[in-house]
Amino acid sequence: MDSFLVTGPCRLEGSVRIGGAKNAMLPLMAASLLTAGTCELENVPDLRDTRTMMQLLAGFGVRATLGDGRLAIDASRVESFEAPYEIVRTMRASIYAFGPLLARFGRARVSMPGGCAWGPRPIDLHLRGLAALGARIRIEHGYIDATAERLRGAEVSLTIPSVGATVNVMMAAVLADGRTVIENAAREPEIAELARALRAGGARIEGEGTSRIEIDGVAAIAPFSHRVIPDRIEAGTFAAAAAITGGRIEIEGCDPGHLGAVVDTLRGCGAEIVCGSGRMAVAGPGRVKASNVETGFYPGFPTDMQAQIMAVLSIADGTSTVVDRVYPDRFTHVPELCRFGARIARDGNVAVVTGVPRLEGAPVMATDIRASSALILAALAADGETKILRVYHIDRGYERIEEKLGRLGARIRRVAG
Ligand code: UD1
Repeated sequence: MDSFLVTGPCRLEGSVRIGGAKNAMLPLMAASLLTAGTCELENVPDLRDTRTMMQLLAGFGVRATLGDGRLAIDASRVESFEAPYEIVRTMRASIYAFGPLLARFGRARVSMPGGCAWGPRPIDLHLRGLAALGARIRIEHGYIDATAERLRGAEVSLTIPSVGATVNVMMAAVLADGRTVIENAAREPEIAELARALRAGGARIEGEGTSRIEIDGVAAIAPFSHRVIPDRIEAGTFAAAAAITGGRIEIEGCDPGHLGAVVDTLRGCGAEIVCGSGRMAVAGPGRVKASNVETGFYPGFPTDMQAQIMAVLSIADGTSTVVDRVYPDRFTHVPELCRFGARIARDGNVAVVTGVPRLEGAPVMATDIRASSALILAALAADGETKILRVYHIDRGYERIEEKLGRLGARIRRVAG
């Protein structure tokens, strides 16, 4: 298992190019299962999760090839309908195979995803939504088994605007008989992206990006070609890197329109941010200002940026609070940040961060994708050397982050063990 060695403190300067969005690409890859031909995706980051999804698709008999950011997926032949435990446990988004398999073939068997290092992550809304469309669902031996001769459109009202449930129900509904209405749908840009790609394949979808999505089922979805949107969380992480190091970073190939809450929050911390078309310039403050941050569903502050903003606030002048309203247990980074000398007290879904003037390098352990990037941010600002263990978590969601940071002046290297 690789580790990162980071020597700080440093002040990052230069420009960085953002890759395609992991959370847009994974549903698009799953959606290719709806088509009996070859879908083409562009601007595909070569992440560990991309490879895991390719492996999952290969298990169904689907051929997928990736090179130069282009991914071709040929789902004309599907021979298996099972997403096995070995893959699902490493990537929960494997559950995205469920809706498309059921819609196109009338059957799907997917291992129950477990919890995460940071708490339970139920899938009841996915299952209730698919059951409303007529799927017969049984849970046995750790697997969800579902069958349906033909899905029928229905009204699906989500009690929480879950991204995953919206994706799964939308993918199933495009091939169902009649009209499906998803109420309280997730409004994340990745959902709108999926709708656009499916529409390119002939799906009839309206209202994506709002809380009410209407889908009129069609007989078949044709193979689609699509360019993946920029990763708003990667862009936000580099913006946070400028803030925590007092640096100046030009973030290129991003969509500032997807980053409103992150930009507002970092400005509140004292960063100067200029947004342009497809780019953003971020200059960190001399000393970070304390700020209160609450995560929320889009367009709220993303829970996927909560750990990174907490790292920034750990060196603020004053006391901040960070509340996670989406994933109340997502705080595994707190004890690790404290190893750098950060002063953070957690009570339920609230963390109180008492800013300290400086952090100190320390050995720490990555526990999930975003927690790992928070540890890198802290290490960049900390005095001395930090060793971050288990960086495979970060490789799931960031493409060659050490190379990108190195070009901005960070002293970071990957070591085996
Ligand atoms: C997606 C993102 C993840 C992000 C999260 C929230 C992908 C691959 N992952 O995860 O990076 O952190 O959105 O923005 O896009 N819930 C239920 N029942 C369900 C489903 C969800 O109670 O069936 C709850 C969850 O516990 C959570 C909330 O709904 O409290 C939001 O979860 P959801 O939007 O579904 O997250 P994911 O799709 O898993």
